[in-house]
Amino acid sequence: MVMNVIEDLGSYATAKVYTLTSAIWFAIATSFGLIAAGYLVAPDFMANIEFIHFGRSRPIHVNLVLFGFVTPGLLAAAFYYTPRLLRTELYSEKLGVITVVLWNGMLVFAVVTLALGHSQGREYAELPWAVDMMIAVLFSMIIYNLFMTVRQRKEQILYVSIWYTCAAVILTAVGYCLGNVIWKPDSGALLGIPDAILLWFYGHNIFGLLLTPLGLGVAYYVLPLATRSPLYSHTLSLLGFWSLLVVYTHVGTHHLLQVPVPTWLKVISIVDSVAMVIPVMVFLVNIWYTVKDKLGDVYADIGAKFVFTGTIMYFFANFQGSFMALPQVQRVTHFNNWVVGHAHIGVFAFAGITALGGLYFILPRITKKPLYSRFLADLQYWLVLIGVTVMAVDLTVVGLLQGNAWLNGETIYRVLPEIHLYYVIRASAGLFIVAGAYLGLYNIVRTLFFNPGVATE
Ligand code: HEM
Ligand code: HEM
Repeated sequence: MVMNVIEDLGSYATAKVYTLTSAIWFAIATSFGLIAAGYLVAPDFMANIEFIHFGRSRPIHVNLVLFGFVTPGLLAAAFYYTPRLLRTELYSEKLGVITVVLWNGMLVFAVVTLALGHSQGREYAELPWAVDMMIAVLFSMIIYNLFMTVRQRKEQILYVSIWYTCAAVILTAVGYCLGNVIWKPDSGALLGIPDAILLWFYGHNIFGLLLTPLGLGVAYYVLPLATRSPLYSHTLSLLGFWSLLVVYTHVGTHHLLQVPVPTWLKVISIVDSVAMVIPVMVFLVNIWYTVKDKLGDVYADIGAKFVFTGTIMYFFANFQGSFMALPQVQRVTHFNNWVVGHAHIGVFAFAGITALGGLYFILPRITKKPLYSRFLADLQYWLVLIGVTVMAVDLTVVGLLQGNAWLNGETIYRVLPEIHLYYVIRASAGLFIVAGAYLGLYNIVRTLFFNPGVATE
């Protein structure tokens, strides 16, 4: 029966189920974000519902955006372009679909455990050991499928998107097990400062060695194709790849500049955070020169439009990130909403918007029909763009207010009423994003299953 369902999905079955997964969890994850934002506006409003109070809806939101929305969204595109770039079939669509089904089971399990209060209490590593093991096995299945596809390829040259995809899944599989201390099932943690160092080595690698390379892989695939332009420079693409790997692996301790970790480790993290300008600008110069003079084509393709916007947000996230890693700056920006603003620029405005672009780019290609509604996709684009921009500016301003108040020795009870309005604005911006997520879900479900459009083949 399972095999029949997989056959009914037709070609690119794995990419299709990743697409659906990403769209569904985007809606659920942002709903939890809105609930968390609601608690910050009115903490007493739903004070008695323990399953969703702030301490539980926050990690549910964060884990779902990371592992439910963005990662599957970027993998959907990867499972489409990997076989195409290698001029072969995916090694096993069955294995691919089974992986995604189990991945969804893992996400449901994760939500239930977090809602019941079973958290290991380490940011981005809250999930209990059983879920960690499921994630490790699922990453192994993804690696196996992708690498066997690479092995059976007919195209000898490995385009840079393949390099990024393979590096992302391998490094994350290893980093996830290390960061979650899977050899200590009870606590999932070491003791004291070494634990903090290991956690943030893993924590920043989730952004730097999972979302970033997957996102760059999608941009390197979508933008040259949508503009029908050859890549500006293959040498730059390799320089960007290797410098990203060398530099990004050392930045984790910039999360711990206010903590008594060894100074040499802080220095390395600061120097490499600033050196991130190399992989970032190498990528941006390469991709922006590729689409130079072709912005009309970018605008005409809704997938490319999302992805190109993602590259602009990548610039902002990284520029801001290098700046925030300077100790003098962090004395103001640490421990407040500035960092949450940066997180939404990086994880959502860059990686999430790129993932949405990848989905819209591949949808007509995997269903062989036009998108159900270009209008709805455009509307979603503006809703999420306005929502995340307002949210990021708002959180940055609150962060500056909080940081300066703390430096000036202000008491918390005087600052809280001052920032309440900003929390209301953040929740309102969230409404735009949630609306965009549900519109996108509708559009994607219609495109995948109930599309009256004429087949293009
Ligand atoms: C040049 C590249 C980047 C640098 C140097 C950088 C730097 C930083 C620093 C210093 C912090 C910690 C701030 C603090 O706690 O005071 C931080 C936090 C964070 N960054 Fe970045 N960032 C970069 C790019 C990105 C990107 C591309 C993403 C997303 C894909 C991202 C996601 C995050 C997130 C989610 C946090 C919040 C972590 C937490 O929960 O505390 N960053 N970043
Ligand atoms: C409806 C839209 C959204 C709302 C209302 C929202 C709200 C929130 C709230 C209230 C927090 C907790 C902040 C705190 O502890 O002070 C948070 C954290 C976070 N959210 Fe969202 N969010 C939304 C969308 C998204 C999306 C789409 C993404 C990524 C694709 C995302 C990624 C994150 C991350 C990475 C954090 C952790 C930040 C940190 O610890 O520094 N959010 N969000």
